[in-house]
Amino acid sequence: MENSLSTGVDIVLIKRIEDILSSSKRDKFLEKIFSKNEIEDAKSRKDEVRFFSGRFAAKEAVRKATSNNINSTKLSFKSIEIFNHRSGKPGVNLKNDLAVDISISHDGNYAIAFCVVQ
Ligand SMILES: CC(C)(COP(=O)(O)OP(=O)(O)OC[C@H]1O[C@@H](n2cnc3c(N)ncnc32)[C@H](O)[C@@H]1OP(=O)(O)O)[C@@H](O)C(=O)NCCC(=O)NCCS
Repeated sequence: MENSLSTGVDIVLIKRIEDILSSSKRDKFLEKIFSKNEIEDAKSRKDEVRFFSGRFAAKEAVRKATSNNINSTKLSFKSIEIFNHRSGKPGVNLKNDLAVDISISHDGNYAIAFCVVQ
């Protein structure tokens, strides 16, 4: 895979995340998928459902983009941490030295994320 790029994209129906967050599965879902920093970050957001939907799409996109690079095994959701730079641009913390870039967008009922890995 040297000198080549790999991409991943994921789209999330925001209602699906809303249903989980308003159900008894909420705590298990948050604990399994998101880091402490991400859960803390959500508290300062206007719309946690929209926020977690974008983060979920971002993690799926990273898992797709990296699945060929790391022994064909998909990374766990929790090992992928999404944050925002001061500019607002999202970034990815990964426990390996892959160069990763991510973009997230939301509109209406959907959140989408696109990831590029080198
Ligand atoms: C910031 C901006 C990209 C958001 O676009 P939008 O259509 O309102 O909303 P979208 O749902 O498509 O995008 C939101 C996501 O864009 C990403 N984003 C925010 N700022 C960004 C930037 N400077 N560069 C790239 N991506 C950015 C974030 O991931 C954000 O979601 P998150 O906060 O949950 O991580 C758009 O308003 C813009 O280009 N603004 C000009 C720059 C600006 O005003 N920056 C303000 C911060 S100083």
